[in-house]
Amino acid sequence: MKICEVYKTAESEGKEKHVPQMEIMRGQGKGGKDIVRVVVGKEVPHPNLVEHHIVWAQLVGVKQNGMVIELGKVNFTPVYTDPVADFHVNLSDLRSLIATEYCNIHGLWENSVDL
Ligand SMILES: [Fe+2]
Repeated sequence: MKICEVYKTAESEGKEKHVPQMEIMRGQGKGGKDIVRVVVGKEVPHPNLVEHHIVWAQLVGVKQNGMVIELGKVNFTPVYTDPVADFHVNLSDLRSLIATEYCNIHGLWENSVDL
């Protein structure tokens, strides 16, 4: 089995929303950088209990030449921390963004946007 076979996308989504959404705010970050906000459960909140929660979210960029850049990863603490993270990045050389997240019950999920 390959890792790409275990990542789920919007087609697998049920009543609980897992697909990480990305909000892009150009030039609004520290030092004029861009902000990419990764949100899980934007419209329908995902449970945030010790028994069932979002463990982490990761943001990856793909450069114009195809090179993959890991932009950041955030761990969440159930009950206390909502699964939302802001990454201050320079998007000028990137052609797409890929966000992934892990739910301790429902596994790995991904989403992507072309810039
Ligand atoms: Fe879940």
